[in-house]
Amino acid sequence: MSSNVSITFLGHSAFKIISPKGKVLFIDPFLSQNPSTPDALKSPDKADFILLTHGHEDHVGDTLDIAKKTGATVVSTVELSGLLKSDGLPAEQAAEFNKGGTLTFGDFSVSLTNANHSSSLGGRYAGEPGGLVIRFEGGPTVYHAGDTNIMPDFSLYAELYAPEIVMLPIGDHYTMGPVEAAMSAAMLKAKTVIPMHYGTFPVLTGSPELFKSEVSARTDGKTEVVILKPGESLNG
Ligand code: NI
Ligand code: MN
Repeated sequence: MSSNVSITFLGHSAFKIISPKGKVLFIDPFLSQNPSTPDALKSPDKADFILLTHGHEDHVGDTLDIAKKTGATVVSTVELSGLLKSDGLPAEQAAEFNKGGTLTFGDFSVSLTNANHSSSLGGRYAGEPGGLVIRFEGGPTVYHAGDTNIMPDFSLYAELYAPEIVMLPIGDHYTMGPVEAAMSAAMLKAKTVIPMHYGTFPVLTGSPELFKSEVSARTDGKTEVVILKPGESLNG
């Protein structure tokens, strides 16, 4: 694996990634109201791109504030983008796509996948939920699966995208839990899997230790589980 990107876990499903050429990407930046985000990371000053998996508030989070403050481009589905624009996102900062589509920005591209979940924003229909495959030029392919249940598509994505680093939800209740997520990790054949969407709120009971042992059993140790604490980084 190349080691040209830095991936920082910000708690829940939020990540900050620095691209090989230094672009700053946020995925699902639920920060200021996120009980698991370290205080020092709740209000970023610099962002070039904000990538969203779906419209739920624990994913859209601080998108509008960060976009207004930094001028970042917000990448999301057509429907979610429409809602964000009606809520004040300047049109020139909105990049819209739909499933199967790929957008290229400088040294990375983003493809939108399926997610088996739902999507709304403040009670309004926000299109379908998705996942994000981010391919860095001279760096790894990263797959943030969003909020999802296990789905047969993961086998297809292993073949089609061959992701090296995968973020999977394991918290249960609103997404799959550790056992479903471990089978998903095996289907995706990733080198490295980072668990997310657990522990933020009491109902998200999925255990990263159980996930780790299930992945180890299902992949014969071929897939490494990296449990990041909020604020910790992985270089990939
Ligand atoms: Ni959700
Ligand atoms: Mn969620």
